[in-house]
Amino acid sequence: MSQLKDEQGLEVSTNSADVVSVVDKFGKDLLSMGKGVTDILAQVDKYPENTLIQSYVACVFLYGQTKETDAQAKKYLSRAQSTIQSANEREKLFLSSLESWFEGRIEEGAQKLERLIKEWPEDLISAKVLEFFYYMRGQQYSGARFLKAMETIYEQNKNSGYFLSSYSFATELCGNYEKAGDLAERAVEIEEINPWAHHTLSHVLLKRGDITSGIKILKDYEYIWDRSGQAISSHNYWHLALMHLEKLEYDKALPFLNSQILREKPYTVIQHLDSISLLWRLEMGGFEVPIELWKSISNIVIENSSDAYIPFNSAHYIYALARAEKKDELSRSLSAIKESVSKKNGHERDVWEKTGLPLLEACKSYATENYALSARVLKPVINNVMMVGGSDAQVDLFRQTYLLSLIQSRDKERAKSYLKEISTSKTGTPLQEHWKFLI
Ligand SMILES: [Fe+2]
Repeated sequence: MSQLKDEQGLEVSTNSADVVSVVDKFGKDLLSMGKGVTDILAQVDKYPENTLIQSYVACVFLYGQTKETDAQAKKYLSRAQSTIQSANEREKLFLSSLESWFEGRIEEGAQKLERLIKEWPEDLISAKVLEFFYYMRGQQYSGARFLKAMETIYEQNKNSGYFLSSYSFATELCGNYEKAGDLAERAVEIEEINPWAHHTLSHVLLKRGDITSGIKILKDYEYIWDRSGQAISSHNYWHLALMHLEKLEYDKALPFLNSQILREKPYTVIQHLDSISLLWRLEMGGFEVPIELWKSISNIVIENSSDAYIPFNSAHYIYALARAEKKDELSRSLSAIKESVSKKNGHERDVWEKTGLPLLEACKSYATENYALSARVLKPVINNVMMVGGSDAQVDLFRQTYLLSLIQSRDKERAKSYLKEISTSKTGTPLQEHWKFLI
């Protein structure tokens, strides 16, 4: 088998220039988080002998995080495995990392991708996939490791706007908001269509409490999100909705649910999580979410609510079912999740047992307004909550749940000091002032 070179100068095991074009297009779509990322599905049957194309399609399905998408991924992983004789070492290692992902061995898969980008630093597709492994094992918890991985490949990629968007996000997760903002701006200067860099900016602005200018800055990028893939479009709009919530503008935050987050069907896990999280946070901000809305959201998510993918996902599903008062489904989902956890191994099982399952218990308690119990269950696990998956801003959901549990159970002293502990902005936002008032 010949080795042709892709746009990055990396060897692809193929005799066909068309294969290289498919690989290059997929790379561009993945890194720019464009709508075309699934276009590779229309190409996959044309190149059954190509490891990389089969692997990339498996990867698209693995991002789905459901049993159905995993079943599709398995088909393409098997096809990729059947072509392994003609694959080069980089392609073999990438496939192997996806196989670890499919088996739920996230830590192992992350280590494989870290090895891969060290040896082939120009492989930004692998670096992008590695970023999602950090998300699954807790992005803030993995922040230093994510940053180190990005620094390892900095020299070869410093002029790529896409690389800089990931580097900026790793920097943000480590709490260096100023540098992260600068890197994200540089990323946008180089690559205009760069919603992942806008995403870093939204994290930076939210964490700094720079809400008014944050809304203004983010709104200027909306036209790009509307042309981007659903995942990043939904998530960036979720961030914008949170900005309005920080100002207690419920009437501006809530409409993002239907107009943007749930705009496209079929719904994905990312849309599920952003929807539930927005409603949950609105409730904690003092807005009363009608039970009918919880019922309609829980009907959307119920097919995935018994999956034990990562604790971060399950915590959202459990909360939604509890708020919708779907008691039978809630209890069935919790039993199924515990059963799945008992079959897990290693790092993943450890996180589930020590932090994930208590978190689910606390989410159920909080949703059913048993605040003293949720405060008690969360107390020993809250400092490890960033290990359950999700980013810093996303796991703030659980930190805020702990804060509200303390407030609602009248533990004033602890609530006061915890609010101080979790505040990252220089001046209090209206939402933080609202909580202070409640204490
Ligand atoms: Fe985010």
